[in-house]
Amino acid sequence: METPQTIPVHLGPRSYTVSVGAALLETLGRTVAQVPHVRQAVIVADSAVARLYGERARASLAAAGIDARLLEFPPGESSKTAATWLSLQDGLLAGARPIDRRTVVVGLGGGVTTDLAGFAAATCLRGLAWVACPTTLLAAVDASVGGKTGVDHPAGKNLIGAFHQPSAVVIDVDTFASLPAGQLANGLAECVKHAVIREAGLLDFIDAGAGAIAACDRGLLTELVARNVAIKAAVVAADEIEAGERAHLNFGHTIGHAVETYLGYETIGHGEAVSLGMVAANHVAARRGILPAAIAARVEAVLAKLTLPVRRAGLAANVIWEIMQHDKKAREGKVRMVLARGFGKVEIVDDVKEKEVRDAVKYLGR
Ligand code: GLY
Repeated sequence: METPQTIPVHLGPRSYTVSVGAALLETLGRTVAQVPHVRQAVIVADSAVARLYGERARASLAAAGIDARLLEFPPGESSKTAATWLSLQDGLLAGARPIDRRTVVVGLGGGVTTDLAGFAAATCLRGLAWVACPTTLLAAVDASVGGKTGVDHPAGKNLIGAFHQPSAVVIDVDTFASLPAGQLANGLAECVKHAVIREAGLLDFIDAGAGAIAACDRGLLTELVARNVAIKAAVVAADEIEAGERAHLNFGHTIGHAVETYLGYETIGHGEAVSLGMVAANHVAARRGILPAAIAARVEAVLAKLTLPVRRAGLAANVIWEIMQHDKKAREGKVRMVLARGFGKVEIVDDVKEKEVRDAVKYLGR
């Protein structure tokens, strides 16, 4: 059995540890038991994840002396709404055993679940502690670390939410093996993002390990997640509330989010949209002459090797541009984008022109 890895997230009084490894679901109870004053837990999971792992999570908590009940909601991005959030509040407040501030919420599942569970915890009784237990690669390397919690609004994704750091994050890489085909690649898009914004060596690791990662090799997945969490933890520790460098994590997300909104969240995976967004952003940067074409080509080749999309025909550039102007990253109508100059060298620009986006969308449709 490979040794689990632990990555600290340094945030002063809100610091916590991320544990990554195989068979870690069995240790969830011990981790939750370390949350100060914990008396009971409520596990929040969608019904599909609840069926797969709910009982094991509950048993692990029970073995650590923590009484836990399960609160379920229907799976899918369409559940990431204020209505589901309210139903979770109802479930938290109306359980047979009354909750109080010593109740810990456990978010067990993908990014929709950890965002919802974290937001339910942030808002119930003005703030309960929570522990993230991501079961997808995407949630493990992105959503569950950093304290962004929330739900979607008809006006856009993640528009209602709060920063609420978890007390711990437990990542059992064995859970990734139950992901539907394509879900691992979705998470790998965020890993490529981390490589571009911070560390070329990570791209080499992903490229060399692509086959073993796809086969869910436990050692390689543990290493992959630990390296990505370390990058995200460093960015978040430097800029918890996105006043500056945390925005680098939005690389690939400006055009990516617009593509996701344009096509519909149930039609394209988040990672697939981010893959297209990174290719488009690199096209903009290469056209500006700030990114060597060879780096853009290398990133694209690795994304394609990971079975992520690097082309997409039929996107209406004018609609993509329109959506980008309403993105919450836009300021006073100016579109903000993160552009790469090279590996580990990124800048935030707010002078993106419609023509550049049109050219990039045309490039995606080639
Ligand atoms: N997913 C981007 C961030 O956590 O800032």
